Amino acid sequence: MNIENKTILITGANRGIGRALVNEALKRGAKRVYGGTRGALESTDQRLTPLTLDVTSVSQIQRAVDEVDTLDVLINNAGVAIYDDLSNLDVIEKHLAVNFLGVFKVTRAFLPFLQRSKGAIVNNLSLAALAPLPIIPGYSISKAAASNMTQSLRALLAGQAVTVHGVFLGPIDTDMNRGFDIPKASTESAARGIFDGLEKGEEDIFPDPASQAIAEGWRTGVPKALERQFAAFVPQSAASLE
Ligand SMILES: NC(=O)c1ccc[n+]([C@@H]2O[C@H](COP(=O)([O-])OP(=O)(O)OC[C@H]3O[C@@H](n4cnc5c(N)ncnc54)[C@H](OP(=O)(O)O)[C@@H]3O)[C@@H](O)[C@H]2O)c1
Repeated sequence: MNIENKTILITGANRGIGRALVNEALKRGAKRVYGGTRGALESTDQRLTPLTLDVTSVSQIQRAVDEVDTLDVLINNAGVAIYDDLSNLDVIEKHLAVNFLGVFKVTRAFLPFLQRSKGAIVNNLSLAALAPLPIIPGYSISKAAASNMTQSLRALLAGQAVTVHGVFLGPIDTDMNRGFDIPKASTESAARGIFDGLEKGEEDIFPDPASQAIAEGWRTGVPKALERQFAAFVPQSAASLE
């Protein structure tokens, strides 16, 4: 998958990693970038089209679908992370609504475009999907759920030539982890790592130094072997997600 001349939709495109992905896609020669946003999205590049898109809003998702005519790559990037200790059910539900169900609802809505283009779905996950970061357990649960869904979608859509990629991000310097004092990669380098992985056809993408450190272990480990073993049970018929 080469980004040049492709049409790409990125959720949560107004800041952080999403904004860097927009800039990197434009730099790599994307034909059109749809920037999903809940607020303003500034750009002087004619190829960037803002789309009002709260990923928890079924009506906004439907309106966004109506504004798009083709799509090659969907990047599910929008996310929230709230410090918690599993004592507040609302916080757990909020994480699941955005980071898990939001990804699912947006993917389901845009899937027909990706089936037509034989395109790609890229889900921005986290190392916390693989092992919980217990200062943000609600977040970790939602990313584990999104990772598990990513694996199922990969198997279900393989027969339709839609590829599904999970991005296991380590710490990146954004508002999301502003108070957490650890080494962080820049948003620009993370965006480059994500598109490099996609262009190389990697199903699991490790775009920064912290994630790269575990890439080999993940790719040769038991969970990956089980994913492949279980995927073999999927019949070759098409998945519609409807
Ligand atoms: N930063 C890290 O260290 C790190 C590590 C691992 C994974 N990730 C993942 O990378 C992705 C981007 O994170 P980030 O660090 O760039 O976060 P960020 O700077 O906090 O930005 C989050 C983005 O998601 C949007 N968003 C939040 N809720 C939304 C909703 N309901 N509908 C639509 N958009 C929504 C925000 O929009 P508003 O501006 O409107 O709030 C914003 O554009 C997330 O999925 C995150 O979990 C980040």
